[in-house]
Amino acid sequence: MRRLEGRSALITGSARGIGRAFAEGYVREGATVAIADIDLERAAATAAEIGGSAYAVHLDVTKQNSIDDAIAKVEAHAGGIDILINNAALFDAAPIVDISRASFDRLFAINVGGVLFTLQAAARSMIARGRGGKIINMASQAGRRGEALVAIYCATKAAVISLTQSAGLDLIRHRINVNAIAPGVVDGEHWDGVDALFAKYENLPPGEKKRRVGETVPYGRMGRAEDLVGMAIFLAGAESDYVVAQTYNVDGGNWMS
Ligand SMILES: NC(=O)c1ccc[n+]([C@@H]2O[C@H](COP(=O)([O-])OP(=O)(O)OC[C@H]3O[C@@H](n4cnc5c(N)ncnc54)[C@H](O)[C@@H]3O)[C@@H](O)[C@H]2O)c1
Repeated sequence: MRRLEGRSALITGSARGIGRAFAEGYVREGATVAIADIDLERAAATAAEIGGSAYAVHLDVTKQNSIDDAIAKVEAHAGGIDILINNAALFDAAPIVDISRASFDRLFAINVGGVLFTLQAAARSMIARGRGGKIINMASQAGRRGEALVAIYCATKAAVISLTQSAGLDLIRHRINVNAIAPGVVDGEHWDGVDALFAKYENLPPGEKKRRVGETVPYGRMGRAEDLVGMAIFLAGAESDYVVAQTYNVDGGNWMS
Protein backbone atom coordinates (compact mmCIF):
# COMPACT_ATOMS: atom_id res chain seq x y z
CA MET A 1 0.00 0.00 0.00
CA ARG A 2 1.44 3.32 -1.08
CA ARG A 3 1.49 5.83 1.78
CA LEU A 4 0.27 8.96 -0.07
CA GLU A 5 -2.19 7.32 -2.48
CA GLY A 6 -4.65 9.84 -3.89
CA ARG A 7 -3.16 12.85 -2.06
CA SER A 8 -2.52 16.16 -3.77
CA ALA A 9 0.78 17.86 -2.91
CA LEU A 10 2.34 21.21 -3.77
CA ILE A 11 6.11 21.49 -3.29
CA THR A 12 7.64 24.95 -3.63
CA GLY A 13 11.09 25.23 -5.21
CA SER A 14 10.95 21.65 -6.46
CA ALA A 15 12.44 22.13 -9.93
CA ARG A 16 15.76 20.92 -8.47
CA GLY A 17 17.56 19.79 -5.33
CA ILE A 18 15.80 18.60 -2.21
CA GLY A 19 12.35 19.65 -3.45
CA ARG A 20 12.78 17.54 -6.55
CA ALA A 21 13.74 14.51 -4.43
CA PHE A 22 10.60 15.09 -2.33
CA ALA A 23 8.50 15.21 -5.53
CA GLU A 24 10.01 11.92 -6.75
CA GLY A 25 9.34 10.28 -3.38
CA TYR A 26 5.77 11.55 -3.20
CA VAL A 27 4.97 10.38 -6.76
CA ARG A 28 6.39 6.93 -5.85
CA GLU A 29 4.04 6.91 -2.83
CA GLY A 30 0.98 7.65 -4.98
CA ALA A 31 0.55 11.43 -4.65
CA THR A 32 -0.23 13.91 -7.42
CA VAL A 33 2.56 16.50 -7.16
CA ALA A 34 2.72 20.13 -8.31
CA ILE A 35 6.34 21.03 -9.09
CA ALA A 36 5.98 24.72 -8.18
CA ASP A 37 8.97 26.91 -8.93
CA ILE A 38 9.96 30.39 -10.06
CA ASP A 39 11.89 28.65 -12.85
CA LEU A 40 8.93 27.30 -14.84
CA GLU A 41 11.03 25.90 -17.68
CA ARG A 42 13.06 23.76 -15.29
CA ALA A 43 9.93 22.82 -13.31
CA ALA A 44 8.35 21.56 -16.56
CA ALA A 45 11.48 19.58 -17.45
CA THR A 46 11.60 18.10 -13.93
CA ALA A 47 7.90 17.17 -14.04
CA ALA A 48 8.42 15.48 -17.42
CA GLU A 49 11.46 13.57 -16.11
CA ILE A 50 9.63 12.41 -12.99
CA GLY A 51 6.57 11.52 -15.07
CA GLY A 52 3.44 9.96 -13.62
CA SER A 53 1.33 12.43 -11.70
CA ALA A 54 3.94 15.24 -11.51
CA TYR A 55 2.99 18.53 -13.19
CA ALA A 56 4.61 21.97 -13.31
CA VAL A 57 3.18 25.18 -11.86
CA HIS A 58 4.76 28.62 -11.95
CA LEU A 59 5.20 30.09 -8.46
CA ASP A 60 7.05 33.06 -7.06
CA VAL A 61 6.59 32.79 -3.29
CA THR A 62 7.30 36.50 -2.85
CA LYS A 63 4.19 37.51 -4.86
CA GLN A 64 0.73 37.08 -3.34
CA ASN A 65 -1.03 36.82 -6.72
CA SER A 66 1.42 34.12 -7.79
CA ILE A 67 0.75 32.15 -4.59
CA ASP A 68 -3.03 32.48 -5.06
CA ASP A 69 -2.75 31.43 -8.73
CA ALA A 70 -0.66 28.37 -7.86
CA ILE A 71 -3.12 27.23 -5.18
CA ALA A 72 -6.04 27.75 -7.63
CA LYS A 73 -4.20 25.68 -10.26
CA VAL A 74 -3.65 22.83 -7.78
CA GLU A 75 -7.32 22.97 -6.75
CA ALA A 76 -8.39 22.84 -10.41
CA HIS A 77 -5.90 20.10 -11.33
CA ALA A 78 -6.29 17.79 -8.32
CA GLY A 79 -9.52 18.84 -6.60
CA GLY A 80 -7.75 20.44 -3.62
CA ILE A 81 -4.52 20.44 -1.68
CA ASP A 82 -3.65 17.87 1.00
CA ILE A 83 0.08 18.50 1.45
CA LEU A 84 2.25 21.61 1.15
CA ILE A 85 6.02 21.57 1.43
CA ASN A 86 7.45 25.07 1.87
CA ASN A 87 10.83 24.27 0.38
CA ALA A 88 11.87 27.28 -1.75
CA ALA A 89 14.63 29.36 -0.17
CA LEU A 90 17.73 31.37 -0.98
CA PHE A 91 21.13 31.44 0.73
CA ASP A 92 23.56 34.30 1.14
CA ALA A 93 26.67 34.92 3.22
CA ALA A 94 28.67 37.97 4.23
CA PRO A 95 30.45 39.32 7.29
CA ILE A 96 28.14 41.45 9.46
CA VAL A 97 29.87 44.67 8.38
CA ASP A 98 29.23 43.87 4.69
CA ILE A 99 25.59 42.73 4.87
CA SER A 100 23.35 44.67 2.47
CA ARG A 101 19.72 45.65 2.88
CA ALA A 102 19.01 44.13 -0.53
CA SER A 103 20.25 40.72 0.67
CA PHE A 104 18.24 41.03 3.91
CA ASP A 105 15.04 41.99 2.06
CA ARG A 106 15.45 39.26 -0.57
CA LEU A 107 16.13 36.42 1.89
CA PHE A 108 13.39 37.41 4.32
CA ALA A 109 10.89 37.84 1.44
CA ILE A 110 11.51 34.29 0.16
CA ASN A 111 12.57 32.30 3.22
CA VAL A 112 10.11 33.81 5.73
CA GLY A 113 7.40 35.78 3.87
CA GLY A 114 7.22 33.04 1.24
CA VAL A 115 6.78 30.34 3.87
CA LEU A 116 4.17 32.27 5.87
CA PHE A 117 1.98 33.42 2.98
CA THR A 118 2.14 30.15 1.03
CA LEU A 119 1.26 28.33 4.26
CA GLN A 120 -1.60 30.78 4.83
CA ALA A 121 -3.04 30.32 1.32
CA ALA A 122 -2.76 26.53 1.55
CA ALA A 123 -4.33 26.52 5.02
CA ARG A 124 -7.28 28.62 3.80
CA SER A 125 -7.84 26.15 0.97
CA MET A 126 -7.52 23.15 3.31
CA ILE A 127 -9.92 24.67 5.88
CA ALA A 128 -12.52 25.46 3.19
CA ARG A 129 -12.35 21.83 2.01
CA GLY A 130 -12.66 20.50 5.57
CA ARG A 131 -10.34 17.50 5.24
CA GLY A 132 -7.35 18.74 7.24
CA GLY A 133 -3.89 18.59 5.72
CA LYS A 134 -0.15 18.43 6.21
CA ILE A 135 2.25 21.36 5.94
CA ILE A 136 6.00 20.83 6.07
CA ASN A 137 8.38 23.79 6.29
CA MET A 138 12.05 23.50 5.38
CA ALA A 139 14.11 24.89 8.26
CA SER A 140 17.83 24.16 8.66
CA GLN A 141 20.49 23.48 11.24
CA ALA A 142 21.29 27.14 10.47
CA GLY A 143 18.08 28.02 12.32
CA ARG A 144 19.33 26.33 15.51
CA ARG A 145 22.50 28.41 15.95
CA GLY A 146 23.98 31.54 14.38
CA GLU A 147 27.04 31.35 12.15
CA ALA A 148 29.62 34.10 11.73
CA LEU A 149 29.17 34.66 8.00
CA VAL A 150 25.57 33.53 7.69
CA ALA A 151 23.57 35.97 9.85
CA ILE A 152 20.62 36.60 7.54
CA TYR A 153 20.08 33.00 6.36
CA CYS A 154 20.38 31.71 9.96
CA ALA A 155 17.84 34.32 11.15
CA THR A 156 15.39 33.35 8.37
CA LYS A 157 15.62 29.68 9.32
CA ALA A 158 15.16 30.46 13.05
CA ALA A 159 12.02 32.34 11.95
CA VAL A 160 10.83 29.25 10.04
CA ILE A 161 11.15 27.15 13.22
CA SER A 162 9.17 29.76 15.16
CA LEU A 163 6.48 30.08 12.46
CA THR A 164 6.16 26.29 12.41
CA GLN A 165 5.41 26.35 16.14
CA SER A 166 2.83 29.17 15.94
CA ALA A 167 1.10 27.88 12.81
CA GLY A 168 1.21 24.32 14.12
CA LEU A 169 -0.52 25.33 17.35
CA ASP A 170 -3.11 27.47 15.54
CA LEU A 171 -4.01 25.08 12.72
CA ILE A 172 -4.18 21.73 14.50
CA ARG A 173 -7.81 22.48 15.49
CA HIS A 174 -8.51 22.23 11.73
CA ARG A 175 -6.57 18.95 11.68
CA ILE A 176 -3.81 20.61 9.72
CA ASN A 177 -0.41 19.43 11.00
CA VAL A 178 2.42 21.91 10.58
CA ASN A 179 5.93 20.57 11.16
CA ALA A 180 9.41 21.30 9.87
CA ILE A 181 12.54 19.48 8.75
CA ALA A 182 15.96 20.87 9.63
CA PRO A 183 18.60 19.42 7.28
CA GLY A 184 22.31 19.79 7.93
CA VAL A 185 24.55 20.07 4.86
CA VAL A 186 23.06 18.58 1.70
CA ASP A 187 25.17 18.37 -1.44
CA GLY A 188 23.77 19.83 -4.65
CA GLU A 189 23.52 23.10 -6.57
CA HIS A 190 22.58 25.02 -3.40
CA TRP A 191 25.80 23.94 -1.70
CA ASP A 192 27.84 24.71 -4.83
CA GLY A 193 26.79 28.32 -4.23
CA VAL A 194 27.51 28.11 -0.50
CA ASP A 195 30.97 26.67 -1.24
CA ALA A 196 31.74 29.54 -3.63
CA LEU A 197 30.77 32.16 -1.01
CA PHE A 198 32.95 30.53 1.66
CA ALA A 199 35.80 30.23 -0.84
CA LYS A 200 35.59 34.01 -1.22
CA TYR A 201 35.28 34.96 2.45
CA GLU A 202 37.57 32.29 3.96
CA ASN A 203 40.06 32.31 1.10
CA LEU A 204 39.60 28.58 0.36
CA PRO A 205 40.07 26.69 -2.89
CA PRO A 206 36.79 25.63 -4.58
CA GLY A 207 35.35 22.48 -3.00
CA GLU A 208 37.35 22.83 0.23
CA LYS A 209 34.44 24.08 2.39
CA LYS A 210 32.30 21.18 1.21
CA ARG A 211 35.09 18.73 2.02
CA ARG A 212 35.48 20.21 5.52
CA VAL A 213 31.78 20.26 6.41
CA GLY A 214 31.34 16.72 5.08
CA GLU A 215 34.22 15.49 7.22
CA THR A 216 32.68 16.80 10.45
CA VAL A 217 29.22 15.22 9.99
CA PRO A 218 29.00 12.35 12.54
CA TYR A 219 27.50 10.09 9.83
CA GLY A 220 30.71 10.61 7.84
CA ARG A 221 29.55 12.48 4.74
CA MET A 222 27.40 15.38 3.53
CA GLY A 223 23.72 14.67 3.18
CA ARG A 224 22.06 13.77 -0.10
CA ALA A 225 18.60 15.02 -1.05
CA GLU A 226 17.34 11.41 -0.86
CA ASP A 227 18.32 11.27 2.84
CA LEU A 228 15.45 13.66 3.64
CA VAL A 229 12.68 11.94 1.71
CA GLY A 230 11.67 9.42 4.40
CA MET A 231 10.95 12.19 6.93
CA ALA A 232 8.97 14.16 4.34
CA ILE A 233 6.82 11.10 3.59
CA PHE A 234 6.29 10.42 7.31
CA LEU A 235 5.23 14.03 7.98
CA ALA A 236 2.79 13.95 5.03
CA GLY A 237 1.14 10.64 5.92
CA ALA A 238 -1.35 9.39 8.50
CA GLU A 239 1.40 8.05 10.80
CA SER A 240 2.25 11.63 11.83
CA ASP A 241 -1.30 12.76 12.68
CA TYR A 242 -0.39 13.34 16.36
CA VAL A 243 2.86 15.20 15.55
CA VAL A 244 2.29 18.95 15.95
CA ALA A 245 4.53 22.03 15.59
CA GLN A 246 7.83 20.11 15.66
CA THR A 247 11.12 20.62 13.84
CA TYR A 248 13.00 17.40 13.09
CA ASN A 249 16.76 17.35 12.53
CA VAL A 250 17.74 15.14 9.58
CA ASP A 251 21.43 15.95 9.46
CA GLY A 252 23.59 12.86 10.04
CA GLY A 253 23.97 13.78 13.72
CA ASN A 254 25.18 17.37 13.41
CA TRP A 255 22.67 18.81 15.86
CA MET A 256 20.88 17.39 18.89
CA SER A 257 17.72 18.96 20.27
N1 LIG B 1 21.12 22.11 0.69
C1 LIG B 1 21.36 22.22 2.00
O1 LIG B 1 22.47 21.95 2.48
C2 LIG B 1 20.27 22.66 2.92
C3 LIG B 1 20.51 22.62 4.30
C4 LIG B 1 19.53 23.03 5.17
C5 LIG B 1 18.31 23.47 4.69
N2 LIG B 1 18.11 23.50 3.34
C6 LIG B 1 16.81 24.00 2.88
O2 LIG B 1 16.19 23.01 2.07
C7 LIG B 1 15.41 23.66 1.06
C8 LIG B 1 15.81 23.16 -0.32
O3 LIG B 1 17.20 23.39 -0.49
P1 LIG B 1 17.98 23.01 -1.83
O4 LIG B 1 19.38 22.71 -1.44
O5 LIG B 1 17.23 21.99 -2.60
O6 LIG B 1 17.92 24.44 -2.59
P2 LIG B 1 18.12 24.79 -4.13
O7 LIG B 1 18.74 26.16 -4.13
O8 LIG B 1 18.82 23.71 -4.88
O9 LIG B 1 16.62 24.89 -4.71
C9 LIG B 1 15.78 25.97 -4.41
C10 LIG B 1 14.68 26.05 -5.44
O10 LIG B 1 13.84 27.15 -5.08
C11 LIG B 1 13.49 27.86 -6.26
N3 LIG B 1 13.14 29.25 -5.92
C12 LIG B 1 13.98 30.27 -5.63
N4 LIG B 1 13.29 31.38 -5.41
C13 LIG B 1 11.98 31.08 -5.53
C14 LIG B 1 10.77 31.82 -5.41
N5 LIG B 1 10.78 33.14 -5.13
N6 LIG B 1 9.58 31.19 -5.58
C15 LIG B 1 9.57 29.86 -5.89
N7 LIG B 1 10.67 29.11 -6.05
C16 LIG B 1 11.87 29.72 -5.86
C17 LIG B 1 14.73 27.73 -7.15
O11 LIG B 1 14.41 27.99 -8.54
C18 LIG B 1 15.16 26.29 -6.88
O12 LIG B 1 14.54 25.39 -7.78
C19 LIG B 1 15.61 25.16 1.28
O13 LIG B 1 14.59 25.66 2.11
C20 LIG B 1 16.94 25.22 2.00
O14 LIG B 1 17.10 26.41 2.76
C21 LIG B 1 19.05 23.11 2.45
